[in-house]
Amino acid sequence: MSTVPDITLADGTVIPQLGFGTWQVPTEQAYEAVKKALEVGYRHIDTAAIYGNEEGVGRAISESKIDRDELFVTTKLWNDSHKADDARRGITESLRKLGLDYVDLYLIHWPATVKYGDAYIEAWDALQDFKAEGLIKAAGVSNFHIPHLDRLNGPAPAIDQLESHPTFQNAQLDKDLQSRGIVLEAWSPLGSGQDLDNPVIDEIGKDLGKSIAQVIIAWHLAKGHIVLPKSITPARIEENFDVFGFELSDDQIAAIDALEAGNRTGSDPETADF
Ligand code: A2P
Repeated sequence: MSTVPDITLADGTVIPQLGFGTWQVPTEQAYEAVKKALEVGYRHIDTAAIYGNEEGVGRAISESKIDRDELFVTTKLWNDSHKADDARRGITESLRKLGLDYVDLYLIHWPATVKYGDAYIEAWDALQDFKAEGLIKAAGVSNFHIPHLDRLNGPAPAIDQLESHPTFQNAQLDKDLQSRGIVLEAWSPLGSGQDLDNPVIDEIGKDLGKSIAQVIIAWHLAKGHIVLPKSITPARIEENFDVFGFELSDDQIAAIDALEAGNRTGSDPETADF
């Protein structure tokens, strides 16, 4: 039984607040990791066309025999496919590889303005068509800043998936998104591992009898983020799911809030040239 809280997005979509990330995990390893994650109780899995692991993810899902409506599966449209026809090929290919009739959430992976200009605006229109056709249940974006969001036509995205972790929180953007009813979904929630030796968080973990990773995930949950920790290590997959029997105090949350250090570990959406 999953103890993961659900969040209801502005478009009515219900999404488990803790999901399982698969970035940089090749397809065979993704198969093993997702299989383990589903055994442990995760029901929300995040992948992307560019990760090259949708087949492995899909195989783990299909072998699990878990009812489709108990699962929440996200994938993402790659940057070179923002034009309507390319986007349609993108979703078709992703569904084929995943072995699914629909995904619960489909994201435009990056605005990708340096390389593709404002083609992401066309991609957003395409996602509305896919939603109307039932190929995707919810539409969202990833790595979008406010000016990107402002240029979209139609309904606002339900979600913006962004780099967020204690030493690079994206706190101002989080506030701006909240004021628009858009939920921040955190990628690299552990700082791609870089925040896992932080002495302040270590201290909090020792007080609570929890690991640094568990404290960071609890901090994201307390902030209202949707959080997607990633691991290929079975014991860590279990550890990262065991985050619901305790809560951080306001002081502990404030102490982690104070760790912002501008430590971006991934690409900057403004300058990303891929
Ligand atoms: P591994 O996959 O080898 O287990 P993020 O989710 O921020 O991208 O961070 C992922 C990185 O953090 C991976 O290198 C992963 O290692 C590591 N990691 C994930 N969970 C834990 C954990 N509970 N303890 C230590 N390291 C972890």
